Amino acid sequence: MPSHDVLIIGAGLAGQRAALAAADAGVTVAIMSKVHPVRSHSVAAAGGINAAINPADDWRSHAYDTVKGSDFLGDQDAIEVMCEEAPKEVMHLEHIGVTFHRNDTGELDLRAFGGASMNRTAYVADITGQAILHVLYEQLLKYHETVDRYEEWFTTSLLLDDDGACVGCVARDLRTGKMETFNAKNVILASGGAGQCFKPTTNGLICTADGMAQALRVGAPLMDMEMIQYHPTTLVENGFLITEGARGEGAHLLNANGERFMEKSAPNKMELASRDVVSRAEQIEINEGRGVGEDGSGIYLDITVVPRKRTLEALREIVNIGKDFAGTDITKEPILIRPGQHYIMGGIKTDIHGATEVEGLYAAGEVACVSVHGGNRLGANSLLDTLIFGRRAGEHAAERAQSRPMPTASDARLREDEAWIREIIARPSSGRRISEIKDELGTTLNRHMAVFRDEAGMQEALEVVQRLKEEAKSACIDDRGTVFNQDVLGAIELGYMLDAAECMVVAALHRKESRGAQYRTDFPERNDAEWLKHITTSMNGDGAPQVGYAPVTITQWQPEERKY
Ligand code: FUM
Repeated sequence: MPSHDVLIIGAGLAGQRAALAAADAGVTVAIMSKVHPVRSHSVAAAGGINAAINPADDWRSHAYDTVKGSDFLGDQDAIEVMCEEAPKEVMHLEHIGVTFHRNDTGELDLRAFGGASMNRTAYVADITGQAILHVLYEQLLKYHETVDRYEEWFTTSLLLDDDGACVGCVARDLRTGKMETFNAKNVILASGGAGQCFKPTTNGLICTADGMAQALRVGAPLMDMEMIQYHPTTLVENGFLITEGARGEGAHLLNANGERFMEKSAPNKMELASRDVVSRAEQIEINEGRGVGEDGSGIYLDITVVPRKRTLEALREIVNIGKDFAGTDITKEPILIRPGQHYIMGGIKTDIHGATEVEGLYAAGEVACVSVHGGNRLGANSLLDTLIFGRRAGEHAAERAQSRPMPTASDARLREDEAWIREIIARPSSGRRISEIKDELGTTLNRHMAVFRDEAGMQEALEVVQRLKEEAKSACIDDRGTVFNQDVLGAIELGYMLDAAECMVVAALHRKESRGAQYRTDFPERNDAEWLKHITTSMNGDGAPQVGYAPVTITQWQPEERKY
């Protein structure tokens, strides 16, 4: 049975950074991922990474902007850690080979991003995630003697010992269908978010809430799951991301009357207010009949105001996306966008070392909730979160590994998971299709859990999710083979997404106020007296998620009215 001091599940930025940190600490590491690591969703991160690198900047200013962006739901101790450690982390990336953009004097260039009080976003054109991911993967190859890579292995269950500590996982080799038990002193979940619960989404097909559901199923609570980020600029046609870097470079948002409507809701920051504020302002224009496009469901993003040379250099990926997916040359004409699902602020509740409430189980990146983003994440704080808390989780897990013997995980779960997959493969072809159930989930959440929400819509969403959970148990598949059986994967992922979706809706129904990304038309005000607290959701067997609370940590910034 393979045994490792630290087993990391997920090989995007959080996972790879955790692996490098644990390997540097001298322990044995394994990194497992259902896709090849450079196909992880971190590759899609576009606009940049925030750090107070400019000598005129200060990490406290970055921290305050983050707290304000979070609508005061972010935990300030964690935010302080992230922002204080940011400059060192970005310089470290630079030193190991990330080719950040430089300015005319040869220093790292920093671009403007939403909700930031000064330019502090380091970037590689609009492919920052891809650039960092490839460098980390290269670096990881240097550790081939201590880091084992299980690429295209899919985790089916986490394993607990008799004392409730996490001691490994069961996983399936996608290439052959072989299942195996993995022993580990510590497991770090770094398997990304849950964007595929929505349709459309900017998220890759692999973002199916795997880690969130796996953690829930072994008793680790999720937190802030009601906080779903709608990015202000996604393509009307298909939900593809058009980077916030465009507005950072000066692009305008225009309604059908050609007005820069952000003047009404954010006169100081305009297009660079926080994402929740900009998305709401766009949705109001659309709902009140000032949208653009065939059915008025879009807004114009006018990038032609950015000098063409700069667009071709600093926004080259969206030049291609505009041409290929919307037939628009963004250097010549405005492009049609609207708010689209992009990120989940919530995830597995952790402390500032990435430790969850299950001994030996850590989480980092979008799968986790530290909570540095609270009610709304600032653009370019996500890459930072993955790296800072990925590294911290790797270091902490490595330290914990030094003082304990290797556990011996039982094979009982392996046999149960093998039986589970045999049951999926043996299903009759008559049930509802996985893709149909997934579509219904995605369109339902996109209707009722989006920029504006209310009780009736969310109740309807909850009923749909609960019905789909039943239907998913007998969803049929076509492929009954063992080699790269994506149907089996899809059936298991669907169950993961439905667990996470139920937590999102239950938490959103429970929070009877508007804060950050949660805007309830039936409770339009923020209510600090009753709701300045995190909502947690846990699962016990097959029942509905149970709701709990966790306090918000406030260190130096008292809640105040948020204005941009
Ligand atoms: O718009 C963007 O480039 C996205 C960045 C982010 O979500 O941090």
